[in-house]
Amino acid sequence: MTKINSDNIVNHIEDVFKRRGAESYLGEDVTMAQHMLQAAQCAEQSGADASLIVAALLHDIGHYKNEIPESVLAKGMNNFHEEAGANFLEDYFPTSVVEPIRQHVSAKRYLCSVKSDYFERLTQASIHTLNLQGGPMSKDEVKEFEKNIYLDDCIKLRYWDEEAKDSSKSHPQFSYFRPLVESLVQY
Ligand SMILES: [Fe+2]
Repeated sequence: MTKINSDNIVNHIEDVFKRRGAESYLGEDVTMAQHMLQAAQCAEQSGADASLIVAALLHDIGHYKNEIPESVLAKGMNNFHEEAGANFLEDYFPTSVVEPIRQHVSAKRYLCSVKSDYFERLTQASIHTLNLQGGPMSKDEVKEFEKNIYLDDCIKLRYWDEEAKDSSKSHPQFSYFRPLVESLVQY
């Protein structure tokens, strides 16, 4: 793998979308690229700021473990996809992008605990992973999670994550979002 830096990170990400975007998304009807592009589309249509649109666009990048340098994976505790993705992106993007990504699985566990109607939004595959991910949060976990200063963004991203699974919906390509991604790279 070429050494990744701030100059080539966006190329690397675009290349991952191109080479691997067609892979299926964990038992859902959409591909990985459709899922992430639709999530970004939902964010944009909701009037989200640039950071949150980019967070939505890149939230599942951690599923591509072998596109992430070994040295980054070595930082992780367990390298579940949300952690691997966040640890990868944190060297190049601000916390406002990285934190909602890091928390997007916790946000599902959170919402299942605090919002009675949220569970109904989950697909079968998402219910299956919820159980593997620890199920709904306990009261103490909820309290802890609510301390996160990006709580609102984490929750929004989670709703778009559930929404972005519609195989019949058209969406922009990566190139449409690329300038936004580039605008957030830190040097
Ligand atoms: Fe997702």
